[in-house]
Amino acid sequence: MGLLTASTLLQELFAGKNVLEIACGTSYWTEVMGRMAASVLATDVNERVIALAKTRPLGNQVRFAVADMYRLAPEQPFDGLFGGFIWSHIPRQDLDSFLLWLKRFVRSQRTIGFIDSHPVEGTSQDPERIALTSTAKPFSSKRWKTEPSTKC
Ligand SMILES: C[S@@+](CC[C@H](N)C(=O)[O-])C[C@H]1O[C@@H](n2cnc3c(N)ncnc32)[C@H](O)[C@@H]1O
Repeated sequence: MGLLTASTLLQELFAGKNVLEIACGTSYWTEVMGRMAASVLATDVNERVIALAKTRPLGNQVRFAVADMYRLAPEQPFDGLFGGFIWSHIPRQDLDSFLLWLKRFVRSQRTIGFIDSHPVEGTSQDPERIALTSTAKPFSSKRWKTEPSTKC
């Protein structure tokens, strides 16, 4: 799928919705969604990328916040949640817990979407390799049991 198709799909998915974006980076997808969504709260754990993202003129419907996706504590539920190129960073055995964790930030029956590249054998996105290296991962399942500590 090309970038144009992905962008169109994303806009259709989140049109008119209040969206929480995790791991937004410098806001590539934030800008795409921001054209159609009612609002986007774009978050990332990295203060420097958020500072860069904030320099982009994306409109009043887009806000940014520094937030760890494992310690989110938004003040209200969202209509949708999106993550670009973060899915492949989650160890395969943690994906169910990860989704359960994120579901609490969206209203029931609402939309959660991810975009990522197709895993390629032998690369850092190879699921086997992610699973194999996951003992050194920063995100253990215990994370989901901790109380959220970062407001966004
Ligand atoms: C591959 S980049 C993707 C950025 C953007 N979504 C895109 O598609 O261009 C991954 C991003 O995840 C962020 N990230 C990594 N761990 C995170 C965490 N625990 N909470 C929030 N963001 C995180 C990084 O800071 C980085 O900006």
